[in-house]
Amino acid sequence: MVGLGGGDLGLVPTMGAFHEGHLLLMRAARGANKTVCVSLFVNPLQFGAHEDLDRYPRNEERDFDLAEQSGVDIIFAPPVQEMYPRQSTTIHVPEITEIWEGSARRGHFDGVATIVAKLFNIVRPRHAYFGWKDLQQCLVVKRLAEDLNLLVELHFLETARERDGLAMSSRNAYLSSEERAKAPRLYATLVHVAEQLHRNELSPASLLREARTSLSVSGFDVQYLELVSMEDLRPTGMPKNSALIVAARLGTTRLIDNLRL
Ligand code: PAF
Repeated sequence: MVGLGGGDLGLVPTMGAFHEGHLLLMRAARGANKTVCVSLFVNPLQFGAHEDLDRYPRNEERDFDLAEQSGVDIIFAPPVQEMYPRQSTTIHVPEITEIWEGSARRGHFDGVATIVAKLFNIVRPRHAYFGWKDLQQCLVVKRLAEDLNLLVELHFLETARERDGLAMSSRNAYLSSEERAKAPRLYATLVHVAEQLHRNELSPASLLREARTSLSVSGFDVQYLELVSMEDLRPTGMPKNSALIVAARLGTTRLIDNLRL
């Protein structure tokens, strides 16, 4: 099968509902490739049975306009039946998928790894662009590409944030106005912990404990807030080559964020 791309093609894999974070990826791809392709596919394989597949925000017409304005040449928006005509072979990236988002959302990363591999095989990009907002996803895709010797150069771009610091996410649309007002505390907490870590006055364990408590008091249901190694995502006591990662529910909305140190 011949891929969509010939020569220098950059792919931005997305599930649509574009925000500034997606547009930054598209602009980066535009600046570095002859042809830019955006895939727009709400991948059922990465949603659990009780997750938000049915209510995931969709607005293809707006997305097409925004992609065009960002200089995208090709939008690949296949129907589900075309991508999964029968029960699919899946890809399991071991170890780093079994913690954090992987244990909160069983099977999620098998779905991500499978669709990303399929998109790479269909589109045949030389470059592919992902956002650090989904830090664990970035590391999973990196392992996938290394382990399967995929011929694609991966680019991870900084998280786009609202003016108050909230990481941009299509799921922010689920927040009530009261929750939206509280949501920036998640990132503010990560910044505060990072500053304290650099000061080296308190142990990482007690800083993390305090931060979890302060988020809970503000109404977040904290699922995890950890300092982890950027190598294997295991908890570490060393700020070097590490990241703060957090997942918390605010009402019915699950928010994730991170800060690389
Ligand atoms: O980050 C996303 O939007 C999705 O997980 C991705 C990478 C497009 C795979 O469906």
